[in-house]
Amino acid sequence: MIDPLSADALVLETERLRLTPLAPQDEDIACALLCDPAVMRYVDDPMTPQAVRAHMSDAVKRGAGGRIGIWCVTLKETGQKIGDAVLTPVPIDAPDIEWDRVVPGAYPDAQIEVGYLLIPSAWGQGFATEICARLLRFAFEQTALAEVVATTDPGNAKSQAVLGKCGLRPLGRKRAYGYDDVCWFEITRPEWQAGA
Ligand SMILES: CC(C)(COP(=O)(O)OP(=O)(O)OC[C@H]1O[C@@H](n2cnc3c(N)ncnc32)[C@H](O)[C@@H]1OP(=O)(O)O)[C@@H](O)C(=O)NCCC(=O)NCCS
Repeated sequence: MIDPLSADALVLETERLRLTPLAPQDEDIACALLCDPAVMRYVDDPMTPQAVRAHMSDAVKRGAGGRIGIWCVTLKETGQKIGDAVLTPVPIDAPDIEWDRVVPGAYPDAQIEVGYLLIPSAWGQGFATEICARLLRFAFEQTALAEVVATTDPGNAKSQAVLGKCGLRPLGRKRAYGYDDVCWFEITRPEWQAGA
């Protein structure tokens, strides 16, 4: 059984951003992201608002004492919600996160990936790099994970650049989300410690 982290310890701050565990009232930003074809271009088919509503009960689940799940990303200066950020188990054959693997008292039996989605007005300001660096720090300071991975569509050069800036190494193309040609990235705990 894993010790639960306090609610305060799950609120992650950066210079410009606050990350809070995704809550039911964050359906607004979930819709803004998941229903926008521009945001979803390299991620998945855009969802309908009805599908997002149905997805919220999974999206707020947390595993490993709160350490695994989705965070809502807010601009500290204005309180505007600009995106989400994840530490979630990578599905290999399934098309989506297997939420039944996310349980309160254990780490999922899968590799854990870092990820982020931002609304288009927030692109190009360095926010994704700030988010990714903060989640890596959280992962290596507050979890028992030996490594963190990431997966992207081969065409998602902007996301791949973010991962490179945060010290993740490309692992080549492997299976994930039911596709065989997904670009994988990885950073181990010693690699993160060496660069932190
Ligand atoms: C991919 C995505 C997350 C990139 O987000 P981003 O915040 O624009 O990415 P970055 O953090 O790299 O910032 C981009 C640029 O802002 C610039 N920038 C501007 N102001 C900055 C500041 N104050 N600090 C740091 N960088 C700043 C940086 O120079 C960087 O450009 P560079 O890589 O040429 O140096 C975003 O486009 C997105 O949400 N896309 C849709 C969803 C998606 O594909 N998610 C990833 C799925 S794998």
